[in-house]
Amino acid sequence: RIPLLIDTDPGVDDALALLMAFDDPRHEVVGLTIAAGNVGLAHTVRNALKLCEVAKSDAPVFAGAEAPLLHPARDAGYVHGLDGFGDVAYAHPTRTPHPEHAALAILRLSHAHAGKLLLVALGPLTNLALALKLDPTLPQRIARCVVMGGAVTAHGNISAAAEFNVAFDPEAAHIVFSSFPRIELADWEATMAHGFAHETFERWLQADSPRARFYDTISRKTRTWAAGRRGEDWHSADALAMALALRPEGALEVVERPMAVELEGRHARGATIVDWRREEGRPDNVAILRRYDQARFETLLASALAAG
Ligand code: BDR
Ligand code: CA
Repeated sequence: RIPLLIDTDPGVDDALALLMAFDDPRHEVVGLTIAAGNVGLAHTVRNALKLCEVAKSDAPVFAGAEAPLLHPARDAGYVHGLDGFGDVAYAHPTRTPHPEHAALAILRLSHAHAGKLLLVALGPLTNLALALKLDPTLPQRIARCVVMGGAVTAHGNISAAAEFNVAFDPEAAHIVFSSFPRIELADWEATMAHGFAHETFERWLQADSPRARFYDTISRKTRTWAAGRRGEDWHSADALAMALALRPEGALEVVERPMAVELEGRHARGATIVDWRREEGRPDNVAILRRYDQARFETLLASALAAG
């Protein structure tokens, strides 16, 4: 099976992506490295451990960055609940995190699975940036790197131009996008193009499984928020990135281009600037997902919730 390392900040949509990964017969989750993002680190770590418990996964969980590299950032507790999992007061998980720092775990696992590791980043890129600063040769040992982040034509979600994961820690994102030769990107705009009806999602949540029951509970607040704000469809950014990671053959349209992260600017800090016409002569560094097989995506989601 393909070794899979997930860097994440759970997070309601991270949780759905993790369930997809735990369920997948072609991949083995070798670790979850956790950063602050959607909510603070204590919550994201606890949520990751809880999800492992619900999914009966013994994947090690490593705590990492507590804050962005340089500037303070605003979290997304208003979307995911103040604890990141819908504020439902779930029973604390019994497991504790592995003592190793997430950035060190990324490096160690990249050596243990050199040339084979699938790295999927679903949160702010702080842990990966720290790992790259410790060891710039990291990308050489990664088979594929899939990132949920950015808004490729500047239709952002956290500001007019920027997407949350990149805007939370733009310096970290800059380090990551300028270090990896090719990142497979599922951005916010792809997310918005791959929604599904709330009724469909609610039908999957009726599955008779502990995962579906848990997910139904923790996602309720976010679903109400999203229905009020974005109309009828439900979107899951991290789940789409995970679909791309687990089943790349479902990608129907991918565009390769050079992309940079804007680190300054009154309106554009954290924006991902794609050089669509290749004006600046830089090499392509991102493979941008534009269209994914919707039926395949929905099948992956439904079976992740029904599993176990
Ligand atoms: C991203 O930001 C987070 O709130 C989600 O978990 C996702 O990773 C979407 O912009
Ligand atoms: Ca996330």
